[in-house]
Amino acid sequence: MKIALIGYGKMGKAIEEIALQRGHEIVLTIDISNAADLTAANLSKADVAIEFTGPESAFGNVMKCMEAGIPLVVGSTGWLQHLQDAEAACKKSGAALLVASNFSVGVNIFFEINKKLAQLMAPHKDYDVALEEIHHTQKKDAPSGTAITLAEQVLASIKNKTHWVNTAAVNPDDLSIISKRIDPAPGTHTITYSSAIDDIEIRHTAHNRKGFATGAVLAAEFLAGKKGIYTMSDVLGF
Ligand SMILES: NC(=O)c1ccc[n+]([C@@H]2O[C@H](COP(=O)([O-])OP(=O)(O)OC[C@H]3O[C@@H](n4cnc5c(N)ncnc54)[C@H](O)[C@@H]3O)[C@@H](O)[C@H]2O)c1
Repeated sequence: MKIALIGYGKMGKAIEEIALQRGHEIVLTIDISNAADLTAANLSKADVAIEFTGPESAFGNVMKCMEAGIPLVVGSTGWLQHLQDAEAACKKSGAALLVASNFSVGVNIFFEINKKLAQLMAPHKDYDVALEEIHHTQKKDAPSGTAITLAEQVLASIKNKTHWVNTAAVNPDDLSIISKRIDPAPGTHTITYSSAIDDIEIRHTAHNRKGFATGAVLAAEFLAGKKGIYTMSDVLGF
């Protein structure tokens, strides 16, 4: 498979390593220094593109890929306020789009456990729920995209919480997400249900970036040759 890599930072380099190990070819590498090379003509050399740049640049890059009609895997976080526009562009051009706040297989299993735990906890109003995420100090967005996905899953079942806040809870209907920035943490997410009697806590701790990179390459393998909008659940068969 021929891959266009958009963003050649920590994740782009980790993805390159995994992609080469899996027998793929990187035919285009775009970073801030050659961003002007992200053109439809250059993208046409690739079967699939993988975008890991950051909150400020992701949407522009996604739209260029959608307009070029290429299947695109997006790992950048902090840009999802534009997701509907990206999906509309995908449908219009016949491209393919797979966006995930976290590509690691372990976190996607953790998402399923989080949904199930929230369903089980919903009738038990004595428990208060809160989230914590820890990442390295270079991370630009807070809370993490993964924490937002986890919070939205909690909010879908725990109806006395109406919205998340990126602080300690002030009002009872606030779902607190505490963000901590500590090097070199690649990503730790904890959901805690606390009562006067006991606590129930689930936690995912990434030890390195390999899980995200492997998941992104698996997603790219899944997406090549497809049209339309997909999620990691489609890749993993959940
Ligand atoms: N979805 C996931 O599983 C997952 C996992 C880890 C990180 N992330 C997210 O991926 C993004 C990148 O993370 P990282 O750790 O690799 O960051 P990084 O800062 O190490 O790398 C980002 C790279 O993008 C480049 N860049 C910036 N603007 C650009 C532009 N307009 N065009 C091309 N390249 C540009 C930068 O020069 C840099 O090399 C972040 O948003 C992060 O939160 C997602």
